[in-house]
Amino acid sequence: MNNVLVLNGPNLGRLGSREPDVYGNQDLPALLALLEGEAPDGTTIDLRQTDDEGTLIGWLHEAVDSSTPVILNPAAFTHYSYGLRDAAAMVTKAGIPLVEVHISNPHAREEFRHTSVISGIATGVIAGFGFDSYLLALGAIARIKR
Ligand code: DQA
Repeated sequence: MNNVLVLNGPNLGRLGSREPDVYGNQDLPALLALLEGEAPDGTTIDLRQTDDEGTLIGWLHEAVDSSTPVILNPAAFTHYSYGLRDAAAMVTKAGIPLVEVHISNPHAREEFRHTSVISGIATGVIAGFGFDSYLLALGAIARIKR
């Protein structure tokens, strides 16, 4: 059984009610259902969310130790968390795919969102396609593993 970690950072637990004009009306359980519906046979989706930087870093350590591919929406941590970047770098330096995803397109938004400290060490970046950003990332991970 292949596992994919789908890790979500701060405020993404509020999806469904948070700025629906930007992030849509669907919540994290809906995202999980979408990903489970599209996951290749034998792939399990382990979707998690935290508002806590240390918890997110711990989950990336877990990904390294278990060699589990990661879909990461770092949310606001994207723009300034060097601790998260260092943890994500351990994943990709171990040869494990890590795809940075965003629901919105940060480059079409405020200036501070144009910087990602994660992108430089990610396997790839997908942004701006709503929940489909995660689906595209899942497809990319499946293709890498083939
Ligand atoms: C986000 C974009 C970030 O700038 C923002 O802080 C988020 C969500 C996205 O998925 O579009 O919380 O990562």
